[in-house]
Amino acid sequence: MPGKIAPSMMCMRLEDMVEGLKTFEKEGIEYLHIDVMDGHFVPNMQLGVDYAKNLRALTNIPLDIHLMIENPDEKIRWFDPQPGEYVAVHYETTKHVQRVLASIRATGAKAMLALNPATPLCVLEEVLPDLDAVLIMTVNPGFAGQKMVPQSLDKIRRCKEMLVSRGYDNVEIEVDGNVSFENAVTMREAGADIFVGGSSGIFVKGMTFEESIAKFRGCIE
Ligand code: DX5
Ligand code: ZN
Repeated sequence: MPGKIAPSMMCMRLEDMVEGLKTFEKEGIEYLHIDVMDGHFVPNMQLGVDYAKNLRALTNIPLDIHLMIENPDEKIRWFDPQPGEYVAVHYETTKHVQRVLASIRATGAKAMLALNPATPLCVLEEVLPDLDAVLIMTVNPGFAGQKMVPQSLDKIRRCKEMLVSRGYDNVEIEVDGNVSFENAVTMREAGADIFVGGSSGIFVKGMTFEESIAKFRGCIE
């Protein structure tokens, strides 16, 4: 199956929103990546509950909600997750990772665990049956426009090996952070399935969305 694209909506200029979403629909964009930041877990604030709900009113493209917030437990349902959408929580943000993953699935959405660059893959071991996807951060979360942490590629490779060897190859791998055209090729080879397209992949200066999406698709076939 070819790789799937999730444009990072915090990179979308407000003035491009309506036309941009039409183009994303026309180009078959698979998900819209929503970065939710609380100013505690990451040193930035971005996107929120109303943003996600308003976006659903504008498009049928399913949301991929990336929660970079402390104690996501009771906040997940504020976003009213829908079947076919993804919700990701970071390993360090809750004392009850398994329960939170199960609560995401209980909404009908797909459960994803997000790992910072320094968070080891072994934290996945006991929750493999609770996962629909793993989100491997290839930068430290908080800001667009950063450089990929170089050891991320090997981590994607080892994550893929771990999932296959444990019989969980149905669990998808999403990559987020500096997914440039060049990095997307090697991330794809390493085993990534879903690619967050930010300032280096989809929202690229001097390219239309049609152009950047076509080039990006070519990198993740
Ligand atoms: C990082 C965010 C990303 C970011 C990726 O904290 O989660 O979604 O926008 O975009 P670029 O390509 O700018 O790294
Ligand atoms: Zn993200």
